[in-house]
Amino acid sequence: MIEKKLEEAFNDQINKELFSAYLYHAMKLYFEELNLQGFVNWFDVQVQEERAHAYGMINYLNERGGKVDFRAIEKPVVEGSTPLEVFEHVLRHEEFVTSRINALADVADEVRDRAAINFLNWYIKEQVEEEASVGGVLATLRLIGDDKKALLMLDKDLAARVFNQPVIG
Ligand code: FEO
Repeated sequence: MIEKKLEEAFNDQINKELFSAYLYHAMKLYFEELNLQGFVNWFDVQVQEERAHAYGMINYLNERGGKVDFRAIEKPVVEGSTPLEVFEHVLRHEEFVTSRINALADVADEVRDRAAINFLNWYIKEQVEEEASVGGVLATLRLIGDDKKALLMLDKDLAARVFNQPVIG
């Protein structure tokens, strides 16, 4: 069994992960409008990753005898009107998710649930990778500035991203 306080924290994070998938889907549509298909692909992979993050927690909570409680998913609002500004929003969002994962791990610590701490270590590592990958694209976008040719080259690079089903936990 899992402590109620930890169960609540997991349910809250499941909602945040599902919201992340929703937000990135909205961003994917923004790039569809610009016809930047590499960016579209990048966000498509991002959506799948966020779903995998949510499902990983859903399955874990279930496995631990906790009750999964689905909540309403907030309406996503894409901030910014350029690719650079949208990626600044992505980074802000990932930093927020990192802070929530850390807060969830703090609850697991507080209730001394070693199995959950071990499980959450995967997410802590994943957030380091997420922030680094977003930060990389953001740095390139800052270099690109208003150079449309360079933006199209980045778009080509982002088309190569593929989704690999993560083995969580
Ligand atoms: Fe599930 Fe992008 O954090």
